[in-house]
Amino acid sequence: MKLIKQLNIILLPLWCILLISLVNVNASALSSCLASIKGQTVYPNNKTFPSLIIDENIYVNYTPSVLVYAVNNQDVQTSVNCAVKLKMGISARSGGHSYEKYDLGGRNNVMVVDLTNINDIIIDSKSQTAKIGAGNRLGVIYNKLSQAGFLIPAGTCPSVGIGGHALGGGYGFTGRKYGFASDNIISMEMVDANGKLLKIDNATNSDLFFALRGAGGGSYGIVTSFVFHIHPTPPQVTSMKFQFNPNQVQQLFKAYNDVGPSLDNNIVLSISLSKGGLSIDGLYLGPSANAKNAMKQFLSEAPKPTSSKFIPQSFFDSVKTFAYVPPNEVANPKHNPYFFKAKSFLVNKGLTSQAINTMIDFLNNVSCDTYALFDLFGGTANINDVTSSLIHRDVLYGIQLLGQDWNSKTQGDKCIKQLNDFGKEFQSKFTSYFSYQNYIDRDLDDWQTRYYGQNFKRLIEIKAKYDPNNLFNFPQSIPVKTF
Ligand SMILES: Cc1cc2nc3c(=O)[nH]c(=O)nc-3n(C[C@H](O)[C@H](O)[C@H](O)COP(=O)(O)OP(=O)(O)OC[C@H]3O[C@@H](n4cnc5c(N)ncnc54)[C@H](O)[C@@H]3O)c2cc1C
Ligand SMILES: *[C@@H]1O[C@H](CO)[C@@H](O)[C@H](O)[C@H]1NC(C)=O
Ligand SMILES: *[C@@H]1O[C@H](CO)[C@@H](O)[C@H](O)[C@H]1NC(C)=O
Ligand SMILES: *[C@@H]1O[C@H](CO)[C@@H](O)[C@H](O)[C@H]1NC(C)=O
Repeated sequence: MKLIKQLNIILLPLWCILLISLVNVNASALSSCLASIKGQTVYPNNKTFPSLIIDENIYVNYTPSVLVYAVNNQDVQTSVNCAVKLKMGISARSGGHSYEKYDLGGRNNVMVVDLTNINDIIIDSKSQTAKIGAGNRLGVIYNKLSQAGFLIPAGTCPSVGIGGHALGGGYGFTGRKYGFASDNIISMEMVDANGKLLKIDNATNSDLFFALRGAGGGSYGIVTSFVFHIHPTPPQVTSMKFQFNPNQVQQLFKAYNDVGPSLDNNIVLSISLSKGGLSIDGLYLGPSANAKNAMKQFLSEAPKPTSSKFIPQSFFDSVKTFAYVPPNEVANPKHNPYFFKAKSFLVNKGLTSQAINTMIDFLNNVSCDTYALFDLFGGTANINDVTSSLIHRDVLYGIQLLGQDWNSKTQGDKCIKQLNDFGKEFQSKFTSYFSYQNYIDRDLDDWQTRYYGQNFKRLIEIKAKYDPNNLFNFPQSIPVKTF
C-alpha cells in the first residue's frame, strides 16, 4: 500500500502530463473535425466562453467542450458527424431557457450546437405561413410577424427561444384561440443522428412529425427550422389587469372554476397568487367594448377587483405589456439570468377550497420568494390532435409554482426541497397526475407518464427508429427502450 502511494506521488505529475496531452489531443481532434464550420466555434480556453454558457436559470451549471454557433444546416450536419465520430455527446440550444439547462446536455463535456444565428423569418402572407429559423426568440418573432399583420400563439417571455418552446408545446395569451405553438407547426427541417437533413411534415416522416410536436426538445435530432401556420392579428386587442383583495381568493377561484371553461376563446387569463398578492393578467383578442362584454359574467361572479384595467392596444404592444422587461427589450431580447425552481401541475376540473388553502399556507411559509400562476387553458388548446404527442388536452388551468432569487446555496437547497416536497403532496392530493414538459423538472417522479402519458411507448419506438444509439440524450430525454 505504502509503496503504491509513494509511487503515485512520484507518478502523479506524469499522470497529469498524460491527462493534459490526452485532453489536448481530443481538443485538437475536435477543432480539426469542426474546421469546416462556417459559423464560430468557441472553446473553454476562450475568455468569453464562461459568459456564453450562462443561460436563463443559473441554479445549475454545466461546462460544454465547445459551442458551435451554426449558421446553416450544413454546420449542424458537420457538428453531428463530428460528435458521432469523436463519440461525444451533442445538444441543441435555441433560446437557452431550459429550466434544467438541458440545452447544455444536462452534463459536462458535450458539444453544444447553438442555433442563434439560424434566424431567418420568411413570411408568406398569401398562404398564411412563415418559415422561422429555430434560433429565433419569441420577442423577435412577435415583432416581425406583427409588422406583417400576423401572430403565432406562443409564450409571453420575449427571450424564450422558439426551438425548445415549440417542440415542447408553447402556451400563452392566444392559446385558447389558436392552440399551442406546436399545434401550429406545419413542417420542420431536422438534422438526424446520421447527420442527414430530414424534411418532416404530416405526410413525410409523419412519425417524427408526431413526436416533435410535443416531445421534440433534445431527443430526436436538431430542428433547424419550422414552417408555422400564422394568424392575422386583430386591429386592436385588449390587455386586462385586475387586482383583488387576497382575502377573497376562494370566491375568485370559484368564479374561475365555474366560468373559466365557457369563457370566450378570444380570452386567456392568468391568476397570480403570492404571499399577500392576488391578481389577474389577461388578453382579449378584440376591442375593449367586446372584452368588457366577454368578461361580464366572470367579473359578476368574481369578487370586486380593487383595481381593474382594460387597455386597448395593438397586439405587439400587448406583448410588451406582459413581457415584464423594458419595452425596448422585447424586439431585442436579452437573457435575465436568475435562480429559480418550478413545479408544474395541470388541473382538469378546478381546485377545491381545501387545495387553495393548502397552497396559500405553503406560499406563506416557504423560505424563498415564491408565487403560483394559474393559466387558463381550454378552447383550441384542448382539442386533441392525433398528429401531436402533446397529451394535455383536458385541462382547465395549468399551474406553475415558482420559487426564485435565493441568495445562498443553503437557502436555495432548502427552498428547492420545500418546493419538491410540497409539489409531490399537492399533486397527489389535488391535481391531475400530469405535468407540462416545457416546465421540465429533474425532481419529478414518473415524469415519463406525467409528461407524455400513453404516448410514451410510441415515443420510444420513434426514438429507437431515428436515433437507436441514443446520440441525443439528456437526463429526461426519450429513451430508446423501456427500462
Ligand atoms: C422566463 C421564462 C418564461 C417562460 N414562459 C413560458 C410561457 O409563457 N409558456 C410556455 O409554454 N413556456 C414558457 N417557458 C418555458 C419554455 O417554453 C421552455 O423552457 C423551452 O424549452 C425553452 O426553449 P429554448 O429554446 O429557449 O430553450 P433551450 O434551453 O435552448 O432548449 C430547451 C430544450 O429543447 C432542446 N432544444 C432546443 N432547441 C432545439 C432544437 N432546435 N432542436 C431540437 N431540440 C432543441 C434543448 O436541447 C433543451 O433540451 C418559459 C421559460 C422561461 C425561462
Ligand atoms: C473567442 O470567442 C469569440 C466569440 O465569442 C471570438 O470572437 C474570438 O475570436 C475568440 N477568440 C479566440 C482566441 O479564439
Ligand atoms: C394529417 O394527415 C391526416 C391523414 O393522413 C389527417 O387526418 C390530419 O388531419 C392531418 N393533420 C394535420 C395536422 O395536418
Ligand atoms: C406554516 O408555519 C406555521 C408556523 O410556523 C406552522 O404552524 C404551519 O404548520 C406551517 N404550514 C405549512 C403548510 O407548512
